[in-house]
Amino acid sequence: MKVAVGSDHAGFALKEKVKALLQELGHEVLDFGCHSTESVDYPVYGVKVAKAVASSEATRGILICGTGLGMSMVANRFPGIRAALCHELFTTKMARLHNDANILVMGGRVIGDALALEMVKVFLETPFEGGRHERRIRQIDNFKEEV
Ligand code: RB5
Repeated sequence: MKVAVGSDHAGFALKEKVKALLQELGHEVLDFGCHSTESVDYPVYGVKVAKAVASSEATRGILICGTGLGMSMVANRFPGIRAALCHELFTTKMARLHNDANILVMGGRVIGDALALEMVKVFLETPFEGGRHERRIRQIDNFKEEV
């Protein structure tokens, strides 16, 4: 799978570990930065990963900042993006099964590396259930027409 990854300085260390895991699992990694722990602005990187996923340049995305909040706010502004901020395995699994999340967002200052790497595996391995959930995610994309 082609996976786009991005972080700010607060997520950089975890992003590097996520990248190594993805490569070990045989995925193609598109790294949109950042590239060090020097302080940067998270929207710059969130936008790049969201655009890569929205345009189908990447199949899935993984975004990491300090809390995950900023990155999820940025990514969810893009049509077709369903970015899920998760900090444990159950929500990560449900984000795929029920929400067909295409970007996993994590807080590098919130969770430990081992849990984060397990979440990445679950995020990539869990299929979308479809059915009634298909209708619901379509309603998310069409909300502008309904208000
Ligand atoms: C950076 O200090 C921090 O604000 C950022 O990583 C993120 O947590 C924002 O939501």
